[in-house]
Amino acid sequence: MQQNKIQSEIQSIVATQSQYIAQHHDRFLAEVCDLIRIPSVSTDKSYANEVHRAAEFIKNQLITAGADNVEVCQTAGYPIVYGEKLINPALPTVLVYGHYDVQPADPLELWTSPPFEPRIADGYIYARGACDDKGQMYMHIKAFELMMKTNSLACNVKFMIEGEEEIGSVNLGAFCTANREKLKADVILISDTGMIANDIPSITAGLRGLSYMEVEITSPNRDLHSGLYGGAVANPINILCQMIASLHDENNHITVKGFYDKVAELSAAERAEMAKAPFDLAQYKAALDLPDVHGEKGYSTLERTSIRPTLDVNGIWGGYAGQGAKTVIPSKAYAKISMRLVPHQVSEEITELFTKHFESIAPPSVRVKVTALHGGEPVVTPTDSVAYKAAELAYETTFGKKPIPQRGGGSIPIVAMFKAALNIDSVLMGFGLDSDAIHSPNERFGLFNFRRGIETIPLFYQYFASLKK
Ligand code: BES
Ligand code: MN
Ligand code: MN
Repeated sequence: MQQNKIQSEIQSIVATQSQYIAQHHDRFLAEVCDLIRIPSVSTDKSYANEVHRAAEFIKNQLITAGADNVEVCQTAGYPIVYGEKLINPALPTVLVYGHYDVQPADPLELWTSPPFEPRIADGYIYARGACDDKGQMYMHIKAFELMMKTNSLACNVKFMIEGEEEIGSVNLGAFCTANREKLKADVILISDTGMIANDIPSITAGLRGLSYMEVEITSPNRDLHSGLYGGAVANPINILCQMIASLHDENNHITVKGFYDKVAELSAAERAEMAKAPFDLAQYKAALDLPDVHGEKGYSTLERTSIRPTLDVNGIWGGYAGQGAKTVIPSKAYAKISMRLVPHQVSEEITELFTKHFESIAPPSVRVKVTALHGGEPVVTPTDSVAYKAAELAYETTFGKKPIPQRGGGSIPIVAMFKAALNIDSVLMGFGLDSDAIHSPNERFGLFNFRRGIETIPLFYQYFASLKK
């Protein structure tokens, strides 16, 4: 199709859709708030009913929006909600992925308003899941409704919305391999990442992988009087702290043997290209109240959070932490440790390297147990594909600016799984901001971003269909 014809068609589509959004925006907002009110915390079994309730909610919303063959597909864990609208086999097919589960809301006392009672104030929705990922995933359902109601659906579409992303998507790989035909698509479209700023649109072009471990150090078989035994028995907390401290050297390199063996190093040219992305260190520090940044020597902050692997303690406990003092040498100490991985590290291999290393550095006075919780593979998504081009044009139309490709530091295990199981690439059209505080107290999502997402997504379908011709 000629460029001009596309442009004039796009203009009329933009007009029609902005009218539709203006008319229905309040309802869109009310609906997403209803979804957010369901506390679908996947990691905590006591919320199991709520997680299932969120799946039912998505199912009903997909049906109402006009999807066919909507089903709640059971897995060994939480279900995957599937729905589709196949309008013409000659048109390309977009597979939309998102997740309806959320992280726990703790620490509750740091929330300004209750995490599962969405509050709309100063242009934001404040709530757990507002950005990650209910708000962003719901934009796709509303964009779909809009395309159905305004007769402008330009591609076939399939939805696959899961409830176990925050616990590592453990049952999704099997679901994908068992449903290859059903999930066949030309591209996977995901809004579960962020962009640089509301006036600096960007498209996430890669994600880090993950190896998540739990370690347990055991010394005496019971908690001991620290006067009677102190000095002669290994204190598991002291030992654990020493072991953890030794996992980084003075340059903040990770000391786990073999850890960097497969790390893909970027060329000087690639690093120079990355450094062009707008980034303000002073603003970064101010936003987090940091006296200074910290990280691997020889790399910038942006590099440290995207192209370099990390090792972090997520939690550490043991002994007495109640009120006042208790003189005790604890029997056990624990820590949760996660490693973010970059191409071409392999989660299972890193898990094994870590386990061997951690066992090897334990002194003979303690017992050590290392368990792997979950993992995911790193991925780089193409920026020279038709789908990327379509996303770029869609952003250019709504933001008036070309989006910048940028590697993300977080993990979405399914992206690499999709590539491995179905050989389909993803486009990560995230509309969140770092300041949205995902996984933190007072998570929020901008009303601007919610609306901009609903405007941009249908344009992706338009451009993708015309570029694919
Ligand atoms: N949506 C996030 C991942 C994300 C956010 C990537 C922002 C890039 C930018 C996702 O829900 C998430 O939190 N993933 C987990 C991984 C999972 C295996 C627990 C993560 O990254 O910690
Ligand atoms: Mn997410
Ligand atoms: Mn998350």
